[in-house]
Amino acid sequence: MEIARTVEEARRIVRGWKKDGLDIGLVPTMGYLHEGHGSLIAAARKENARVAVSIFVNPTQFGPNEDLARYPRDFERDRALCENMGADLIFHPEPEEMYQGAQAFVDIGLLADTLDGAARPGHFRGVCTVVSKLFNIVQPDRAYFGEKDAQQLAIIKKMAFDLNFGVQVIGCPIVRESDGLAKSSRNTYLNAAERAAAPVLYRAIQHGKSIIKKGMPAQMLISEMEKVLAAEPLAKTEYVAVVDAMTMQPVDTIEGAVLVPLAVRVGSTRLIDNFSFAPQG
Ligand code: PAF
Repeated sequence: MEIARTVEEARRIVRGWKKDGLDIGLVPTMGYLHEGHGSLIAAARKENARVAVSIFVNPTQFGPNEDLARYPRDFERDRALCENMGADLIFHPEPEEMYQGAQAFVDIGLLADTLDGAARPGHFRGVCTVVSKLFNIVQPDRAYFGEKDAQQLAIIKKMAFDLNFGVQVIGCPIVRESDGLAKSSRNTYLNAAERAAAPVLYRAIQHGKSIIKKGMPAQMLISEMEKVLAAEPLAKTEYVAVVDAMTMQPVDTIEGAVLVPLAVRVGSTRLIDNFSFAPQG
């Protein structure tokens, strides 16, 4: 496994692979890897001759009062995990390498105005910009993202299509702890009491899944899920929504394929989760 810390090093390695006709899978990450990332690397390993993992805590996707400085980092642990999983390259640049003097950014419209885009202004601009840069540097055939960040996945798929990146964007299922909490690098922020409270998101999802059906008013589902969340004193609901799975715009009634995303603060940690529903017939 090689480690590239500059764009030029990564390009040199990728050029060699391209010359040999090898197809490339990219797993973009911000490091502090967990089994969710592991499942992305495993999927990439299965489907590509070469696998690149990027580890870069991307400053442009954090708001001024967000957790950029304290976002967890452990490169040695990440390196060992990538090596064990058979990755061929880690791209691990410094912020200056990626953004020195940068003036061009990638914006996406409507899809980024709702949900996490509304709660975190500028977040998806930062995500789209860094993912575009990674696509241009690594030139992957396929790129892998977790379904936990469902809006991010929808936005990156649309961006890749609209800007003709020629990359197949692949979503992989959410990986959960045994009590249902979705794996996330941010789970490390939770203290013991908050960690015990955090599976309330999953309980709300389970309840939602048990009652959702075609023709149901979205607000009825939202209220039911909010009730489950309200029963946990350490949890503060930011939103529960029912949106069209493609456009991310709210729906009134459940008719077609929908996404049901939620964002909840447990203590000061913001957790997100979601489920999808497609009515039969
Ligand atoms: O999902 C993430 O970890 C990040 O948003 C990503 C896609 C690596 C871009 O920095």
